[in-house]
Amino acid sequence: MTTQSFTEQDVESFFDQTTSTYLNFWDSSGVLHTGYFDGDDDHDYQAAAERTSDVVATEAGINASSYVLDVGCGCGPFLIYLAERFNCRGEGLDLSTERINFARGLLTGEHAGLNVNFTHGSATAMPYEDNTFTHVVSQDSLCLIPDKPKTHSEVFRVLQPGGVFAFSDFLQPKTDISERGRKHVYDRVRWNYGYSYLGYQQALEDAGFVVTHARNLEPQIRQTYRVIGKAATERAAETDDPAAREWMLGFAESCGEIEHAIDRGEFGWGIFVARKPA
Ligand SMILES: C[S@@+](CC[C@H](N)C(=O)[O-])C[C@H]1O[C@@H](n2cnc3c(N)ncnc32)[C@H](O)[C@@H]1O
Repeated sequence: MTTQSFTEQDVESFFDQTTSTYLNFWDSSGVLHTGYFDGDDDHDYQAAAERTSDVVATEAGINASSYVLDVGCGCGPFLIYLAERFNCRGEGLDLSTERINFARGLLTGEHAGLNVNFTHGSATAMPYEDNTFTHVVSQDSLCLIPDKPKTHSEVFRVLQPGGVFAFSDFLQPKTDISERGRKHVYDRVRWNYGYSYLGYQQALEDAGFVVTHARNLEPQIRQTYRVIGKAATERAAETDDPAAREWMLGFAESCGEIEHAIDRGEFGWGIFVARKPA
C-alpha cells in the first residue's frame, strides 16, 4: 500500500483547480456536500443536500442571536441558507480562493442584505479573536486538514464558552486501507487520513469539548455518490472540453469504487455535535 502525505498547499491547489468542474456536474449553485437521502429510491440531490444542512442547523440549535462560523464553507451556500433561515450573523472560511470568490459573488441581489462575510484562510490558523462565535459549523471539510488537532484547538479558541461545534465529516472506519480505496477515496481529494466514528469523539474530547450527539451515517454517502456519479457520466457526454470530460469520467469511476470502499469498511460519514464548556 502506498501512502501519500498531502499538505495544506496540495489541498488548496486541488480545490482551486477543480472548483469549476465540480460546479459543472455536481451542483451549479455551489452546494458540494453529502446529501441526507430518504432511502435508495430518492434521487433528488438538491433536496437531500438541503436536508443535511437542515439536520446540522437543527442539531446546532442556531437562532437569530447566533454568530456562526462555517469552516471549510466552500462556495458558501450553507452559510447563506443559515443567514436567510434564522436571520443570524455569519462568517465563512475556506482554503480555496476560487471557492471564496464564488461565495462572495453570491452576496449580491437577493442575498445583498445578509450579515455574512467570506474569508480566504485555513482552519489551522483562523483569523478571528478568541471567544467570538456562538456556533462553529462545517460540512465534509475537516477531514481534509492534515493537522486535525490544531483545527480542533482553533475551533475551541474561537467559540464562546458554552458555544456549539456541529458538523458532518467523512470517517476512516479502519486504519488498513486497500490500494483501490486509497486511490479512489483518499488520494483523489488529497485526503491523508480520517477518524473512526469513536476516534472522532475521543479527539473532540481531547481538545476539551463535551460531545453531546453523534450519528454514524454510511448509507447517506452511498446514495450521494450513486446520484452524483450518474450526473458526472451524463455531463461528461455533453461537454466539449476533453480534459473536463476525462476528469468527470474518472470521478464517475471513483463513485463506483467508493461503494466498494464502504463495503470494505474503508469509508464512512457522520454528524457530530460538541460543546465548549461554559
Ligand atoms: C468537500 S468541500 C465542502 C465544501 C462546503 N462545506 C459544502 O458544503 O459545499 C471541502 C472544502 O474544505 C475546504 N478546506 C480544505 N482544507 C481546509 C482548511 N485547512 N481550511 C479551510 N478550508 C479547508 C476546501 O477548500 C473545500 O472547499
